[in-house]
Amino acid sequence: MFIRNAWYVGAWSHELASEEMLSRRLLGENILFFRTATGRMSALRDRCSHRFAPLSLGRREGDCIRCMYHGLMFDADGKCVEEPGRSGVSPNTDVRSYPTVERYKQIWIWMGDSTLADPGLIPDCRFQDDPDWASIPAYIHYNADYRLILDNLLDFSHLAFVHEKTLGGSTTIAQTRPRVERVGDSVRFARWYMNEPEIAPYLRGFNTFDGPVDRWQIYEMHIPGNVLTMDSGSAPAGTGARNGHRVPEAMQFRSVQAITPEDDQSSHYFWTYAHGFNAKDQELTHKLTDRIAEGFEEDRRMIEAQQRAINDSGNDQMAFILADNGLALGRRMIEGRIASEIRAGQTTKGMSVA
Ligand code: FES
Ligand SMILES: [Fe+2]
Repeated sequence: MFIRNAWYVGAWSHELASEEMLSRRLLGENILFFRTATGRMSALRDRCSHRFAPLSLGRREGDCIRCMYHGLMFDADGKCVEEPGRSGVSPNTDVRSYPTVERYKQIWIWMGDSTLADPGLIPDCRFQDDPDWASIPAYIHYNADYRLILDNLLDFSHLAFVHEKTLGGSTTIAQTRPRVERVGDSVRFARWYMNEPEIAPYLRGFNTFDGPVDRWQIYEMHIPGNVLTMDSGSAPAGTGARNGHRVPEAMQFRSVQAITPEDDQSSHYFWTYAHGFNAKDQELTHKLTDRIAEGFEEDRRMIEAQQRAINDSGNDQMAFILADNGLALGRRMIEGRIASEIRAGQTTKGMSVA
């Protein structure tokens, strides 16, 4: 099941050049995105009110979409504005439209109670826009329940094993206990690895310094919307990074990772990994993004295999270990939000229990 009252990332802005339509399944519903002539984003249920033909099989007519089955036409707010063969339109022919906000190069969509859709609730992802931080918008499709991806991000001890030769590189990561706390609707983590003998494998060849390193990952997982925002990096050991002093040669990153459920067992993963060092070096941006994508592919392989094993497991119970505290907190927060939405009657048809 999904939290409905949240801003989710539905698409990258660049996926919707003018005149294009994009159909994407989000939270178990097909959504059609398109832009009007003024650039305003429209998100409609991708399903004609008449016989449920997908509107994505329709055609654009100005700022409207015409269903190409029997010809109903809908405006950018989902209002049915034309019905062939009669003046006016039949009752109950509008389709649902969803609030959207375009921000940080992304299209954010609210699929719950639209009266609660406050754009101020969108997490701060400004590093995706900031010219001093270079990143490339990236996307991964997952055949897995979004909560398994969150579990992975709520426990970085896996870096030592899943990413042994890429993003991790040190068993210290699994031996280190992070500070974990709930801050409002987020779980906040701070992990420091001090005086490690070397940088992580994925940074080799890009290093701005040699010798031992202080590494950190400080991040928040915003539970409604499943958005991780992270400050991470590596600095020459003993130069005060932990006390807030980031020397110029520190290799600093700001990452945003947004996981939007597609269905019960499939998910969209939108991510950037912006670097603040040598930010004008586009070749570096490409190479670093490729290396990180390699690491994220390791996660995908593990999590999809885990999903298949879970599906084979009937009612068998998983064991809990000490590293699960962040994961358990995140799961409790998700369950609490879903339960309160159910109590408030804000869930909608089409949702199923995962
Ligand atoms: S299904 Fe769209 S007009 Fe009939
Ligand atoms: Fe990972």
